[in-house]
Amino acid sequence: MASALALLALAVMPVAMGAPATEFASLRRAEEIVGGTAAALGEFPYIVSLSKSGSHFCGGVLIAANKVVTAAHCSVGQTASSVKVRAGTLRWASGGTQVGVSSIVVNPSYVSSTTNNDVAVWHLSTSIPASSTIGYATLPAQGSDPATGTNTITAGWGTLNENSSTLPATLNKVTVPIISRASCQASYGTSAVTTNMICAGFAAGGKDSCSGDSGGPIVDASTGILVGLVSWGQGCAEAGFPGVYTRVGNFVTWINAN
Ligand code: ARG
Repeated sequence: MASALALLALAVMPVAMGAPATEFASLRRAEEIVGGTAAALGEFPYIVSLSKSGSHFCGGVLIAANKVVTAAHCSVGQTASSVKVRAGTLRWASGGTQVGVSSIVVNPSYVSSTTNNDVAVWHLSTSIPASSTIGYATLPAQGSDPATGTNTITAGWGTLNENSSTLPATLNKVTVPIISRASCQASYGTSAVTTNMICAGFAAGGKDSCSGDSGGPIVDASTGILVGLVSWGQGCAEAGFPGVYTRVGNFVTWINAN
């Protein structure tokens, strides 16, 4: 899990502030949302940027006017009073609506060493109303697991390649198919990929989420339903190493209760 740990360490640091080159040097060749394209305003009305001291560090998903879901690894070590949530803009640094956070609830089953159960709920101190550019994501049915081959779209402000230390100013997106858990386990190891995770990507690589995309959404391309949260991977967009996402379907009851 050394690579996952490296990514975890990377995920919680404010990449936009200028990450030490050594942190990125430990990663393999990668890209931001790698191999993607620019998103349009309103295309992901539920996506939010989580920031600290003015620097984006993770994505998140607005699921109600006062509630965001994101990765646990984006949340551990954070203090509600020192982070902010921005919605309704293509730019992580400006525009839209920015609010404070009143509390952060990390899933009690989250294990940092394995990234298992990588989900958290953030409660906002000020509600974010729906608008032409802001909306709330639809959660899947509890227990659901997206079928292999399902086309999904992930989006975020993460780095454009594995070796980049700067974030793009605007939101990017990429379409990737769900790959079977068995295939993903063949890449990463049986125990590394749990039933609380889903995997997406191409065998040849080239398209993936990357550092700074963590906590953000991956949605079913046909239904728009939120199926996952960006969680971890070996580098970004590497051949044979798909992106690994929190399986939101296993946490719907918990999310709704917290
Ligand atoms: N842990 C990274 C982050 O915090 C996300 C890594 C996703 N990696 C991947 N290959 N899809 O932003």
